[in-house]
Amino acid sequence: MNLKIELENGIRLAWPTPLFSRKFDDTEDMNRRLVEIIHEKEKKDSGNAKSVVSGWHSADDVHSWDYPEIHRLIGFITEAVTEMTKISTGQESDQFGAETTFIAWANILRNNGYHKMHTHPGCAWSGVYYIQTGSEDASPEGPDDAGKIEFFDPRMAVEMVPVPGNPFGQRLTFPPEAGRIYCFPAWLRHMVNPYQGSSERITIAYNVRIENFETFD
Ligand SMILES: [Fe+2]
Repeated sequence: MNLKIELENGIRLAWPTPLFSRKFDDTEDMNRRLVEIIHEKEKKDSGNAKSVVSGWHSADDVHSWDYPEIHRLIGFITEAVTEMTKISTGQESDQFGAETTFIAWANILRNNGYHKMHTHPGCAWSGVYYIQTGSEDASPEGPDDAGKIEFFDPRMAVEMVPVPGNPFGQRLTFPPEAGRIYCFPAWLRHMVNPYQGSSERITIAYNVRIENFETFD
């Protein structure tokens, strides 16, 4: 299946941007264990600030942590990247091969913590897996976008001219959900809006490089 860019009535989509989302089942035990593992790591590692404010960002070595739960998570990432490669190439997964390398890191956001707007240079796809949303006790008066990942329309200034239906330049936010993974082009600017809650919002993010892509007949 290829990206569906030819629509009806003579209309075609230009520069469509694929975003992948999938909720995995039976992740409660896995997520509980991942929380323990990440807390153990945080005690030993002061972290890497990068784009995070009021939170903790682990070293970029989560993919090498030797735990069954991390191995299962790598399977989730592989599934996400395979789906993105299928849609971007129009090839089935048994029709292509590539050298794929990736890194992953853990993030903890605490009350009012957020990730500044950023991209992930040098990579093909990036994404995030939600272990714990942590927002159960957030105030209902808080902002609707608290803790949500937000993507920005990559087409510069498209919001400058009003168009009926206002389809360009809109904010695009997705809520966190334990057991859900997102995957998106690494060049797509994104941020995480300030999280609000007394517990922790915990995720594992990843970057994927794809080299020497080839297709088979
Ligand atoms: Fe990111």
